Order: sequence, then structure tokens, then C-alpha cells
Amino acid sequence: MKLNLAFTTGAISLLGFGFAQPADENVRQVAIIGAGPAGSSATYFLQQFAAEAGVSINITVFEKTDRIGGRTLTINPFNDPAQRFEQGASIFVKANQILYNAMTEFGLSPTYRDSDPVMGIWDGDQFVFTIDQSAPSWWNTLKVIWKYGLSGPKKAQQATAATVSKFLRLYEPEFFPFESLTERAQDLGLVEETGVTGEQFLQAKEVDARYAHDIIQASTRVNYASNLAHIHGLDTMVSMAAEGALAVIGGNWQIFHEMVQRSGATVALNTTVVAINNASSASPRKPQYTVRITSGSTPSANPTTHPVAFDNVILANPYQFSGISAGEGVFHSPIDEIPYVQLHVTIFTSPYPFSPRFFNLPSSARVPGMVLTTLAQSDTATSGVGGVGKAGFLSLSMLGYAINPQTKRKEYVYKIFSPEAVNAEFLSRLLDKTVPPTFIGSDSPISWYTPHVFNSYPRAYPRVTFQDPIVGAGIYYTSGMESFISTMETNALMGKNVARLLVDKLQETAPAKYRNGLACEDEQRILV
Ligand SMILES: Cc1cc2nc3c(=O)[nH]c(=O)nc-3n(C[C@H](O)[C@H](O)[C@H](O)COP(=O)(O)OP(=O)(O)OC[C@H]3O[C@@H](n4cnc5c(N)ncnc54)[C@H](O)[C@@H]3O)c2cc1C
Ligand SMILES: *[C@@H]1O[C@H](CO)[C@@H](O)[C@H](O)[C@H]1NC(C)=O
Ligand SMILES: *[C@@H]1O[C@H](CO)[C@@H](O)[C@H](O)[C@H]1NC(C)=O
Ligand SMILES: *[C@@H]1O[C@H](CO)[C@@H](O)[C@H](O)[C@H]1NC(C)=O
Repeated sequence: MKLNLAFTTGAISLLGFGFAQPADENVRQVAIIGAGPAGSSATYFLQQFAAEAGVSINITVFEKTDRIGGRTLTINPFNDPAQRFEQGASIFVKANQILYNAMTEFGLSPTYRDSDPVMGIWDGDQFVFTIDQSAPSWWNTLKVIWKYGLSGPKKAQQATAATVSKFLRLYEPEFFPFESLTERAQDLGLVEETGVTGEQFLQAKEVDARYAHDIIQASTRVNYASNLAHIHGLDTMVSMAAEGALAVIGGNWQIFHEMVQRSGATVALNTTVVAINNASSASPRKPQYTVRITSGSTPSANPTTHPVAFDNVILANPYQFSGISAGEGVFHSPIDEIPYVQLHVTIFTSPYPFSPRFFNLPSSARVPGMVLTTLAQSDTATSGVGGVGKAGFLSLSMLGYAINPQTKRKEYVYKIFSPEAVNAEFLSRLLDKTVPPTFIGSDSPISWYTPHVFNSYPRAYPRVTFQDPIVGAGIYYTSGMESFISTMETNALMGKNVARLLVDKLQETAPAKYRNGLACEDEQRILV
């Protein structure tokens, strides 16, 4: 790891604590809390915008885990670093320009294949639709039309394209940066999508109800763990806009790692921020904040005050889970609590294929390597854990292969998304082999097993107002973006947005001393 680790846990104790010292007056001190996509992008662009504007800033990134990436999490079967699969955010598209451009600029390479080409949609009783994505596209188009008619798929595609082109205007100079996400959602006409459920939105666009129920709902379930009646129209369209999906070879986290590294920021890993307070030493004209930190990811009883006080703080994680207490007056108004989906993502390896019997198929049948789900005829569309319906899980996929170091044989790598932890009974039926309650062990059909629970993304209930990014004097917040659209790209866009707002504000208000020599140059020009 090549990060500038000036503040690893070990170093912290050497610094002396208890009070914050006034730092170099000519340098703007900025704290970024959280190094997921939003915080990494904020760090990267802040550094860039400040350099372009000629202002001196000093960025300190605090990250409670020991890695960069947040919900972008790459894991290694059998703890072999050469074998890598995504347990968190796995795909993005070329239209995601922040990620795509960064990937290209950083010399990282894309892969376009992240699962088995045969995809089936399972409703707990039967496969309602199967498609082989390696077959010619005309054949697949015919298959869809055969089952759902022409207008459903066509109208859904038109609606998706129209929504995407509205959204992409958010990157244009006329609309970027933005102080209010609520206003931008209105300016761009995207409240048309966010204000209603996916079901209502698709109905208004005259998309065939059966197509919506089977195909589109399978996408909202795998992408946002939600049925169409419990997710807004915008996230529904985002779920449909996955054509040309790609991932970074070796792990998506590398984009964020490079962003942070290239910014030259000081990075404090294994460091949890537990409090933000108004620094009592601050001059009235210049708000300054102190942050209290603990080492490690579980806040200890002994927080210390970081020695540098900050002019700006960017909160780049869902505040409700951050464990941060904000002192009086730090926030203008409280940060909204948002209902997040708890999602269990289980990755395991096994030499055995999925059992055809589990899917009520004849024993000679080949089970699709990518199983998405929808509701059964008898299910009612609810939200929360029960919303999973008769299928009992949201998706099952064969991600690829890994070499078992013990047997030296190639095994399948599987991933399951479910609203509750999977148990041995379920896995035994899925593989048609007895899985012990410990999952692994000498006689288990499972050779490697790693579950992870995420507060994955908000339950995207219809809404037309969003948490705006400026939450206090010099304090910015990125996660309001998530109830609008929750993706790596959109949160990175919000990180870039607050970076732009921050530097714009500095240029507006900063005394000449922040401007790093530019003021002098101007004066000289005037004199000449
Ligand atoms: C299973 C899953 C699949 C997904 N699939 C996709 C996908 O395919 N494509 C896509 O684009 N998006 C996907 N997403 C969504 C995507 O991961 C998120 O939208 C994105 O990671 C949000 O970025 P963020 O930086 O705002 O938050 P996070 O990624 O959550 O990063 C926040 C960071 O802040 C740190 N932190 C929190 N509290 C503190 C504290 N007090 N002090 C210091 N640090 C703190 C955390 O450790 C974390 O590293 C998926 C998410 C999940 C869970
Ligand atoms: C973070 O903590 C983990 C676990 O305690 C440790 O293995 C790792 O080396 C630490 N990393 C840093 C950068 O301090
Ligand atoms: C920049 O921030 C780091 C960590 O917060 C601090 O150690 C360093 O002294 C700061 N540098 C300047 C020039 O203020
Ligand atoms: C922070 O403290 C300063 C100095 O004590 C005070 O002038 C300012 O009003 C305080 N700010 C807030 C937001 O409470």
C-alpha cells in the first residue's frame, strides 16, 4: 500500500492530544470523513480544483476501516490475493463518466463479464424467463417479444433512455455544481421519476405489466433489493440502465484507492471519527471545527482530539451509521435518517453445481448460472424481509471459478443476495448435498465461505425532496444523494459536487492569503 499513512494508529499516540492547535493560517484545513466512492472522489477533485484555483488546502481523510472503498469491497477466495471477486458494488457503465474516466486515466482495465451468460428469472415455483446472453441478440430479442410482446420491452427501453439523458444533464456546467439536490431534481424534471413508485412510473409509460413484473422487477430486486411497488421510478430506471456493465479487473476499489493516493492527502486508516465540535479557539469570522477520533473501527472509550482544527468538514458516509456526534451549532438542521436495506451477501466456493431439483427441473437440466428472482403469483408485494416472497432470496450467481489450494481443482464461486442470513438447510437444498451448520469443514460441500451484511442502500420510497449537501457553515454531506440514486458513480458525483462548492466558496470569500501567490501576480499585472 503506497498511501501517505502519516496517521496510522501507531503514530497517533505520539502526537499529543487534548487540544487542537492552530495550524498554518495560510492553509485551508479540510477533513474528509469516509473513504468510500464519495469521500475518495471529494478528495481527488478537491485537490484538483484547489490547485486550479491556486488555493492552498491540506486534506486529511479519516477512514474507520483499514482500506479504501467503503461498500466497494473485493474479496479473495481461499485468501489468495490472485483470486478476486466483488462482494459489494460490482458494476458500472460507460456513461458513469467519473468512474470511467478515472479508470482510464489510472491505467486500470475493464472486464465486461461478471457472471454466467445464462440468466433465469425464478419465482419460487418456476423459471418465468430464461435467456442465454451468449446467443445472438436477434434470437434473444425474439425470445422476449415472443413472451411479452413488442411494446413492453420497447417502451421500457425508451423510458430508460429518456431518464438517463435527463440525469446526464447534471454533469453539464448549467446544472453543476448544485447546492440543492431537491432543486436540481426539479430543474431536470427527475421528480417525475422519484415521486412515484416504479410500478406507477412504468404504468404511466404504458410498459406491459407482465414485462414489468418479471423482467424489470428482477432488476430492481437484484440491484436494490426491492419490489417495483416499493422503489421509486428513478432507481427503477437506473436498474434497467445496465447495458454494457463493466467492472475493474482486480477490483473496483482500485479507482478509489488511486483517487486518494493521487490527491496526496494525509490518510488516517483504522481511524473512526466520533465527534465534530466547534473549536472554541475559532475566530468568529472563520468557523473551525475539531474532530475527535478513536483508533480502530469500534469506537473505544478514549477518544482523542486530532491536533489540526479544520475549516471545512466533508461527511462522506451515511450519518446515521457513522457514530458521530455533532456539537451544538455544527449542523444548521438535523440530518435526515433514511431507511436502509440490510442486505446479506454470501460468497462461497464449491465443486458442485446448483441442484436442478431445487428449481423443480429434471435432473439432466442445466441450471442458469445467474438466477434473478421475481414474486410468485401467490405472493403479495411487500417491502422489507417479507418482500422477498416465495423465492426466499434475491439473486444467486455463479461468479466464476477459483482454484482450491488444497485439492488444486477449479471450483465454482457463488454469490447470494438475501434479506436474511442464508442457513445450512437452504444451502443443502441448493447443492443437493448436506451442508453442516458450520458451513465449512472436512465433509462439507462448501470449501470456503464468507458472509457480509451491508446497510446497502436506502429503501427508495417515492419522494421529491432530498437532503441537501450543505449542512453547516463549511460542513458538507454527501449521502443525501443516496435516496435520489445510490450508486458508486452518483455518490462520487456528490463528492465532486461538494469539492466544487467548497472551492467556489473559497474563491468568493477567501482573503488573498489563501490564494497562493495568485493575488500577487494579479497585482503585478495591474502595475504593469
Ligand atoms: C452489495 C452491494 C452491491 C452494490 N452494487 C452496486 C453496483 O453494482 N454498482 C454501483 O454503482 N453501486 C452499487 N452499490 C452501491 C454503492 O456501493 C454505494 O452507493 C457507494 O459505495 C456509496 O459510496 P459512499 O462513499 O457514499 O459510502 P460508503 O461506500 O459506504 O463509504 C463510506 C465510508 O465511510 C467510512 N466511515 C463510516 N463512518 C465513519 C467514521 N465515523 N469515521 C471514519 N470513517 C467512517 C466507512 O468505513 C466507509 O469506508 C452496491 C452496494 C452494496 C452494499
Ligand atoms: C488496521 O488494523 C488492523 C487490525 O487491527 C491491522 O491489521 C492493520 O495493520 C491496521 N492498519 C493500519 C494501516 O494501521
Ligand atoms: C496537514 O494535515 C496533517 C494531518 O491532519 C497535519 O499533520 C499537517 O501538519 C498539515 N499540514 C499543514 C501544512 O497544515
Ligand atoms: C463557534 O464558536 C465561535 C467562537 O466561540 C462562535 O463565535 C460561533 O458562533 C460558534 N459557532 C457555532 C456554529 O456555534
